Amino acid sequence: MKIGIIGLGNVGGGIAYSILHNENIKLDMLLLNDIVDKVYGVRLDLCHAFPEMGNKIVVGGYEQLNNCDIVIITAGITMFSGSNQFDRMDLLSKNAEILKNIFEKFTPKKDAILVIVSNPSDVMAYVAWNLSGLNSKQVIGFGNQLDTARFRFLLGEKLGINAGEIETYVIGEHGSGMIPVFSHTSVGRDLDQSARDEIKTRLVNAAIEVIKLASYTQYGPGQNVSKLVEAIANDKKETLCVSTLFDGEYGVRGLYVGSPCVIGRGGVERIVELNIDENERKQLNAVVEKMREVQKV
Ligand code: LAC
Repeated sequence: MKIGIIGLGNVGGGIAYSILHNENIKLDMLLLNDIVDKVYGVRLDLCHAFPEMGNKIVVGGYEQLNNCDIVIITAGITMFSGSNQFDRMDLLSKNAEILKNIFEKFTPKKDAILVIVSNPSDVMAYVAWNLSGLNSKQVIGFGNQLDTARFRFLLGEKLGINAGEIETYVIGEHGSGMIPVFSHTSVGRDLDQSARDEIKTRLVNAAIEVIKLASYTQYGPGQNVSKLVEAIANDKKETLCVSTLFDGEYGVRGLYVGSPCVIGRGGVERIVELNIDENERKQLNAVVEKMREVQKV
């Protein structure tokens, strides 16, 4: 596997570290790409962590990215603690511009899989799909998988249950429109509305809570992108929540929306449509309306 990462900030660095640490990912090359020289320092630091991988961790440009099997894009501006703008959607115009600049030189190979982490990731994945010339199955928006991990953590904490045993999903948007699917959680279905509201508020604000305290998120996105890459690289057919182009699911077509999907070497191999309840359906409708406004070619 040749894996490329465009953007080696805190999130990109966390992803690189988690991928190198993941023994289930057989790496031929980890290509690091950034417009600032910090990337050379990140490479050295990673080489010191994994000296046996030193000759496989390289800094490179578009010629090499164009040959990668999986390319993860994290480039762009992020929510940060000094700002009062904590809605990922506020980052859209600047980050879409950055993405367009990237695709002026980046021509992914025909069977490449792209993982879009830059926010707002659902919309950015839609933009990347349009620019890439690839099938939508190959262009994956990252986010709801991390939200699902956060939801499992919050449920586990609330109920005093090992989060590792909890199965659940977060769908919709990697943003204020994320929907914790209480109707499909393996535990906690009997939580009353106020407990659900409390968990949802903490979930929606999870990244902000981290950023206010620690300046940025890193390990959460890092570990979860590594799991997603593992599922792609090993053709695992694992069900993970990602953003993908809906084609009639819930009556929605032509928009990137978050859903559990079967992930394999082809990217999104199947969208798993859930039998959601009325309240969740209302929330999904609101996300779809919002996405219709922003996902335009
Ligand atoms: C987060 C960023 C990656 O949720 O959106 O941590």
